[in-house]
Amino acid sequence: MKTVKKAIIPAAGLGTRFLPVTKAMPKEMLPIVDKPTIQYIVEEAIESGIEDIIIVTGKGKRAIEDHFDHNLELEENLVKKEKFDLLDKVNYASNVDLHFIRQKEPKGLGHAVWCARKFIGDDPFAVLLGDDIVKAETPGLRQLIKQYEETESSVVGVQQVPDDETHRYGIVDPSTIEGRRYQVNDFVEKPKQGTAPSNLAIMGRYVFTPEIFSYLEKHQIGAGGEIQLTDAIQQLNELQKVYAYDFEGKRYDVGEKLGFLRTNLEFALDNPEFAEDIEKMMKDMLLEKAKL
Ligand code: UTP
Repeated sequence: MKTVKKAIIPAAGLGTRFLPVTKAMPKEMLPIVDKPTIQYIVEEAIESGIEDIIIVTGKGKRAIEDHFDHNLELEENLVKKEKFDLLDKVNYASNVDLHFIRQKEPKGLGHAVWCARKFIGDDPFAVLLGDDIVKAETPGLRQLIKQYEETESSVVGVQQVPDDETHRYGIVDPSTIEGRRYQVNDFVEKPKQGTAPSNLAIMGRYVFTPEIFSYLEKHQIGAGGEIQLTDAIQQLNELQKVYAYDFEGKRYDVGEKLGFLRTNLEFALDNPEFAEDIEKMMKDMLLEKAKL
């Protein structure tokens, strides 16, 4: 069995839910406390055993490449000022070996993954969405890779969502369950409200066998006029099993405003450097508001 050592991070979307900030700034670069979102995702991939990462970028996404590049002037300046702790942080990002490819037009997530096909070749691979952070004791992707190793099949990460949110996600129609792993009848992208076959939503982490590319290359247009990854998963599931795995941990959608604000607050509250101050700030703010 081939092991999963390659990962794709699609980061070429327009980020329309987060306009106007995403007009010139990639949403994947928006900071969660002091690190851009995409760095958390790259760290998860590395902690999961991934050795080669390709980021799919597009127009206006140069800042992502710059973040993972060396900035010699900055590094020299930090050395001169003996700010070695900051130097370590800056160097972490620039020492990660990444590859980049451009999606010329944002035609959908399925198309973004297809753009990286030559890099993947005939190997199994992971996909981590560029605007979804997972906080978990065992990294989310590592949990999925373990399932791949047990089943030698593609695995999609899922979690339960409330009834009134199913229409925003790819949803699975599960058949049998074994522990946290489901066999799946159908994968449906953004079902109309009230029609979802379950509450199990696809959450931005996947492991695929390379056969998925034979469906992605059809460039079939799906929900929202985009080439959807979920449609290719549904077709792959007819050829070879695709499992859904209810991974442990919390997933944060940083690609929309409320999710972003919540993620920042939660991560700051979890950070000993800020926790006490943030708690006090929040209490003071609420008291001030109550007085108005
Ligand atoms: P989203 O649907 O969350 O991204 O895709 P989006 O299209 O940028 O979002 P909105 O709806 O306009 O606000 C999930 C991930 O897939 C990437 C995005 O960058 C994001 O990280 N993506 C999406 C691509 O790389 N290419 C695409 O054509 C679409």
